[in-house]
Amino acid sequence: MWKGVIRAYPDFYHFADERHVVTILEGNTPLIPAPRLAAKINPDISLFLKYEGLNPTASFKDRGMTLAVSRAVEAGSRSVICASTGNTSASAAAYAARAGLKAVVVIPEGKIALGKLAQAMIQGAVVVKILGNFDEALTVVRKISDEYPVTLVNSLNPHRIDGQRSAAFEVCDVLGEPPEYHMLPVGNAGNITAYWAGYKAYRDAGKIKTLPKMWGFQAEGAAPIVRGHVVEKPETVATAIRIGNPASWKKAEAARDESGGLIDMVTDQEILDAYQMVASTEGVFCEPASAASLAGLVKKTRQGLVEKGSRVVCTLTGHGLKDPDNAIKVSAEPITCEAEMKKVLNVLGF
Ligand code: F0G
Repeated sequence: MWKGVIRAYPDFYHFADERHVVTILEGNTPLIPAPRLAAKINPDISLFLKYEGLNPTASFKDRGMTLAVSRAVEAGSRSVICASTGNTSASAAAYAARAGLKAVVVIPEGKIALGKLAQAMIQGAVVVKILGNFDEALTVVRKISDEYPVTLVNSLNPHRIDGQRSAAFEVCDVLGEPPEYHMLPVGNAGNITAYWAGYKAYRDAGKIKTLPKMWGFQAEGAAPIVRGHVVEKPETVATAIRIGNPASWKKAEAARDESGGLIDMVTDQEILDAYQMVASTEGVFCEPASAASLAGLVKKTRQGLVEKGSRVVCTLTGHGLKDPDNAIKVSAEPITCEAEMKKVLNVLGF
């Protein structure tokens, strides 16, 4: 039976007292081959989707949250706090509930997908909507956690990165070696940092010999790393990565540079096109931000930068059901008709 990432990787995660481990059996997500999508985007590669939407709270955040909340329990903490564009808050609320801790989540008012808000609320977090963006929310929660006895569970907490490394371990366990390219959306830049740390840790442990190139993609209206300066008013349809001043900025640049990779940006239209294409081509439904990795693959293929014969892994960071509004917006309207066979056949053109 799968026991969650902490117990699945005892060489990498150790707890003196097993009872401190807080898990909802996260991880072990599928690495889905995507041949139909590859045929459309780039027929010269083998494409795999790391579908992180199948974690317990439907995003990759659970891998980091199991470590962060377990370590908080180990340290005797009674409450956790985070800023979030939605997924971190859903995950923090869930793991805090599981551990019997109080969770406070601070989110930008009006800018988080409906499903994520519902998750944080029903899992019993104190939800604070601020009249500002994620970067401002993060500044507030950092100050609070510095001055009050509450544990910060944003990815500034190193245990979050530690746990998120497990996704790289799983990719290697399935493929045997890392892919040539690993592509990710970049928001606060913790996940690209974590994957790179994970691949390096696996190599240092002698489990793999090669390392992938890390390719990260920001949304054009929220691309501080690409532009080389803080974006004061980030804007994108991909609200999960609507971030203008990423906490792990320097570490993401290090992952890019050490791996011989790149960080580029994609437009909202490119994100939405990829979002629609992966769902309608492979039956895999992710949220808009997740599709930035695929939009990046499309862009780089057009530029001729993806080597023929490569294996490419794109991480789909969160489940599409979190954001039904955008799915409905980009899709054809359902057809309404009377409850008669003839009328339905008529609609179908028979
Ligand atoms: N994809 C999704 C679905 C996300 O929720 C996030 C980040 C990212 C990609 C980017 O990952 O921040 O590690 O570079 N969401 C955070 C949150 C900021 O609050 O849920 P990153």
